Amino acid sequence: MRVLCLCAQALLFALRALADTASIAQVYTTQGSIPRSVWSTYLTDPKTPSGTQSALKSALVRQRHFCQDAYPADVERFKQSQVFSDAPSPFFIYVRSEPDVVSSQVLTTGKWADDLLRDIYFALEYNPPVQGAAGAAGAGAGAAAGAAAAVGGGAGSGEGTKSRVFIDVGANFGWLTMNVAARGYRVAAVEAMKHNQKMLRNSLCAHPDIMGRVVLFATGVSNDTATCYMYSDDNNQGNGHSMCGLSEEAVRQALPPGHSIRDSMAVQRLDALLGGVEVQVMKIDVEGFEPMVMYGAAEMLRAGKIKFVCMEFFPDFMQRNLHNPNATIEFIDFLVSLPYRISILAFDHGYMTPAQAAVALRGDRTRDDIFLAHESLPLVAGVL
Ligand SMILES: *[C@@H]1O[C@H](CO)[C@@H](O)[C@H](O)[C@H]1NC(C)=O
Ligand SMILES: *[C@@H]1O[C@H](CO)[C@@H](O)[C@H](O)[C@H]1NC(C)=O
Repeated sequence: MRVLCLCAQALLFALRALADTASIAQVYTTQGSIPRSVWSTYLTDPKTPSGTQSALKSALVRQRHFCQDAYPADVERFKQSQVFSDAPSPFFIYVRSEPDVVSSQVLTTGKWADDLLRDIYFALEYNPPVQGAAGAAGAGAGAAAGAAAAVGGGAGSGEGTKSRVFIDVGANFGWLTMNVAARGYRVAAVEAMKHNQKMLRNSLCAHPDIMGRVVLFATGVSNDTATCYMYSDDNNQGNGHSMCGLSEEAVRQALPPGHSIRDSMAVQRLDALLGGVEVQVMKIDVEGFEPMVMYGAAEMLRAGKIKFVCMEFFPDFMQRNLHNPNATIEFIDFLVSLPYRISILAFDHGYMTPAQAAVALRGDRTRDDIFLAHESLPLVAGVL
């Protein structure tokens, strides 16, 4: 951590001046490299404002060129898997052909992370109960009304939720990104590994309707600006870990046996990348790097710009990858200081007080994921 901070501090000053240009360069997006002013409006406003028409139009032309030039790019290195889902149209996704736990399961079943997808859809579709009705009925009935509104809100309000934004941090080959966008939601996918980006870009090119709702950030996110090296187990190559602020040689010497460096990446803060965008749900799955992603999103979180957050929570990975035996405890302190309620079960139940959460997060949990809901959301007010 010390090493990361020293290196990052030195870089930070110079890079701050370049911040806007740098993040534009990193955003190669499915639309080609387009300015922040365009993609952020595109993510948050279902209708394209007139001022951005021509920029979007030329971006779309660039995108067509990208898909024509690049697709199918290297697809013989990937496998194509049909996805079983209840999205309006069937779709497939490219997965790894080399050994990889998730790819194998997608290939054999057409499914993966069913529970997590259910949680994400619940949060994306969640509508607070109508004011007044909830006040009169009390917390329990309020929660029921909220669930009813989310489920039975009718075609109009159902369509209304489609402009909501899902952030997929650690998108991997895009399982959640493709599924959520196929349902009609807008997705900002953040993926730093080039091999993963290539699979996702190919899947997007093959489905222009889904592609139209996805912005891909080809970058890593952390609490600072730095260069990181990603490595993984030779038998589970999709499971990327990372070390930041060290030279490539130093990282190579520190690797566990049977692991190799796969990639390098630049990282930046989510606050800098997406600050100002209203986010309905953020998912983080970055193999122990989750605390750094959250620290880098502290401003958005404190301002309540992200309604729901779910993330993997593996104390061993966090402590090892952050080179800090106290990483878990420090992260728990941070989590309970945020204006969010925490559940170790799911988005729709199991929320705890900060004191309960601090204890529960240290103990054995039934799921590898934890769930945060902003404290202003009425659904969780009466649920304990
Ligand atoms: C994260 O970054 C902020 C702002 O630069 C800094 O104050 C804080 O100490 C950092 N936290 C960690 C755990 O690195
Ligand atoms: C971890 O926490 C303990 C107890 O607060 C402290 O003594 C120790 O120095 C910490 N270690 C690191 C690496 O921060």
